[in-house]
Amino acid sequence: MPRSPVKRPSPDLDLSGTLRNADQLPKELTSKALFGNDLPLEIEIGSGKGLFLATASAANPAHNFLGIEIIAKYATHAAGRVARANANNAMVISGNAEPIFELRIAAESLEAVHVYFPDPWWKKRHRKRRVLNERSIPNYARALREGGRLHFWTDVLGYFDETVEMIAAIAPELGVPIPEEEVQASHDLDYRTHFERRSRQHQIPIYRVRYEKSQDRAATIRRRESEHTEGY
Ligand SMILES: C[S@@+](CC[C@H](N)C(=O)[O-])C[C@H]1O[C@@H](n2cnc3c(N)ncnc32)[C@H](O)[C@@H]1O
Repeated sequence: MPRSPVKRPSPDLDLSGTLRNADQLPKELTSKALFGNDLPLEIEIGSGKGLFLATASAANPAHNFLGIEIIAKYATHAAGRVARANANNAMVISGNAEPIFELRIAAESLEAVHVYFPDPWWKKRHRKRRVLNERSIPNYARALREGGRLHFWTDVLGYFDETVEMIAAIAPELGVPIPEEEVQASHDLDYRTHFERRSRQHQIPIYRVRYEKSQDRAATIRRRESEHTEGY
């Protein structure tokens, strides 16, 4: 399904507080560096039109929300939505989330990572471009604090199944997938994201899970696995 066109925000709208380029920011991206406070930080990867950032930041003023969006015109649009909502706890970085997570997010520093309707990259040879892949998943897991959450929603069953399997194999600290419920929409924009809205309006099934990090559980799994291997 093609993406709907995206409008540039009005030139009168001040985006200086909500839109950043990754290279204008301090190397380590923390709440302090981005927002000047120590509130828990949640990061959304691939913010698209910014619906999640605007609604989540309004609903959770005691947390900070950072969106990372690789396509500049979407990053600008999302920053415009956040600016119109007068959110002082949300911001968009125009850039690629992968190197940012690899190099600029400290271990155990995040409250949550949100990945909603990531591009599926259908062809097998393009799978490594997926936002959830063998290289990125350990980085997201490392960045989460104990008890921190990874939310993953998609309408592509193959991507969902492969990712759930991959997480079980390479990031046992994330534990088992916890299903997330569909919430009844009470108005036209009452959806987690624009892609959720679009899929629901076309009756396309959605697969929603979250993970909660636990190092203790991962240590237990690894110990059991090594005992099992030693038994052979
Ligand atoms: C299919 S759209 C979904 C947008 C939004 N999450 C939603 O559910 O409406 C996926 C978004 O991820 C962005 N994206 C893809 N790869 C990315 C990356 N490596 N870093 C940041 N954003 C990325 C795309 O530009 C696109 O806006």
